[in-house]
Amino acid sequence: MDAHSHARPQEARITHLSLDVDVDMDARQVRGSARYDIATHEADRILFDTDGLNIERVLLDDGKEAAHALGDSSLLGRALEVKLEPGTRQVTIEYSTSPQARALQWLLPQQTADKKHPFLFTQGQAILTRSWIPIQDSPGIRFTYDARVKVPSGLMAVMSAENPTSLSTEGTYSFRMEQPIPAYLIALAVGDFAFEPIGARTGVYAERSLVKKAAWEFADMERMLETAESLYGPYRWGRYDVIVLPPSFPFGGMENPRLTFATPTILAGDRSLTALVAHELAHSWSGNLVTNATWNDFWLNEGFTVYFESRICEAVYGDAYARMLQLLGRQDLREVIAKLEKKGRTADTHLRLHLEGRDPDEGMTEVAYEKGYAFLRLIEEKVGRPKFDAFLRGYFDAHAFQSMTTDGFIAYLDSELLKPESVDLDVSAWIDGPGLPASAIEPQSDAFANVDGQIGRWKNGVPAAELITDGWVTFQWMHFLRHLPEGLDDARMAELDHAFRFTQSGNAEVLAAWLEQCVSSDYDPAFGKLDEFLTHVGRRKFLMPLYTALTRSEKGRLMAQSIYASARPNYHSVSVRSLDDLLAWKDNKPPANF
Ligand code: BES
Ligand code: ZN
Repeated sequence: MDAHSHARPQEARITHLSLDVDVDMDARQVRGSARYDIATHEADRILFDTDGLNIERVLLDDGKEAAHALGDSSLLGRALEVKLEPGTRQVTIEYSTSPQARALQWLLPQQTADKKHPFLFTQGQAILTRSWIPIQDSPGIRFTYDARVKVPSGLMAVMSAENPTSLSTEGTYSFRMEQPIPAYLIALAVGDFAFEPIGARTGVYAERSLVKKAAWEFADMERMLETAESLYGPYRWGRYDVIVLPPSFPFGGMENPRLTFATPTILAGDRSLTALVAHELAHSWSGNLVTNATWNDFWLNEGFTVYFESRICEAVYGDAYARMLQLLGRQDLREVIAKLEKKGRTADTHLRLHLEGRDPDEGMTEVAYEKGYAFLRLIEEKVGRPKFDAFLRGYFDAHAFQSMTTDGFIAYLDSELLKPESVDLDVSAWIDGPGLPASAIEPQSDAFANVDGQIGRWKNGVPAAELITDGWVTFQWMHFLRHLPEGLDDARMAELDHAFRFTQSGNAEVLAAWLEQCVSSDYDPAFGKLDEFLTHVGRRKFLMPLYTALTRSEKGRLMAQSIYASARPNYHSVSVRSLDDLLAWKDNKPPANF
């Protein structure tokens, strides 16, 4: 039972979607039809999820109009109930989207890299697909799809499906996804982009001015794919490509099958942020192949993926790299647990979530990722890697193209691994208990110990320029910036900036960590850069800590409100929701005291 969908798959469910839509970039509307093959148990109705859609007509089989009704509006959108006749096999819904459709971000040419053409991308996870397609929007309901998408001529369209690699002159594109997927993995991007192959099965789409840079940055993709297969079995989706989106994309990456959507902020110029590609690729097993049954089971998607990502990175970039990644994750986890406990949201620190009645996006935090990782890492330690790898591979094979509940996983874990190996493990403390259990294994990193040593020297009076930082990699700089003393004065901040040129950094992770320090230390010289960064980048992971830091002082609060007022129209609805909340905006208006 999925509390975030109106669908009743036990009565009637969709098995295939044929989408036929026009994308109107000027009117900012998607319109057309969604035709479904359905499977029923003699039900006299089928329920869909919708959110803000105009439902024009509903037809059964070969064209007979069907009675239908929209339910009340809630945070889940509105249920669409369609009356069925005995033996109905197909339902066609003619519809159009609203200008506020939350899954869609329509970009003006000036919001793109090449500044010549508009751009559209969708974001389905968690419950946004219903705002652009009437659908059974539950991760536990899978179906295949095909699509015909008409876009303005001169633009290209790609989906989480078999994709074109070149422009269609009249702007009509056809797609096919032959493996059954849940609704949150349907995705579409429309814009002026090009394709560049990387390996036999991998490649990258990006705006023309970025595509070569992107192909260079992601050169390790084919090797990552081969590594992933050698760990946990064949890649079952055919190709694996990445599309680099404009900077307003609210996430780092989104694992849309066959075509990961990615933020351009991972184009660091030195391949140092490609763990994100390993992460999204890993979802091709954990998440896309074996899918969390409900959003309460989100850790089954993300915790497994962080573990798998770490294993891919270890194999491709080495043990030291993987350890740094693990330690940064552990730091994030401790921070989010402390924050949730302070807010009285202890239940959100459990692996199994209780998101009924809430926007799932609210409860989906680093806990699923990093506590989930820590749980799997502990099991690995207890049974040894070879046995754990065999278990995981068997798990993916046994449940391929199915959904999984937390209880289902725990039962499988128990019978296939813990019992046969006589492992003693406090499973319920991990799954339904707060915080990070004491049995968690602490990641160790010599590379970070080295950074700690240099921070110590600086604290003891050694000038920044004399610190030994030769050969430091991005993760070490992130660790450095996260562990500076609090309340540094302008002279100390300037000393760091002169020595290491953080304000000029082209690495978004380093820059964001530095800017956070600048806000906490009220270091004015970086505020121009801060404004530019917040205006240009829409990735929520960067926006939230920066705006949060700003809200800690009155000066910062005013700055946050004024930057937000001008940047807000450029952010995606996902980021806007979180930021409206943080900055007390209501009904698209700033707080009265601003
Ligand atoms: N599936 C997530 C993104 C997501 C989560 C979208 C929840 C909507 C709701 C994706 O795989 C992810 O985890 N992205 C991370 C990057 C990753 C390297 C941790 C991100 O966007 O920062
Ligand atoms: Zn993920």
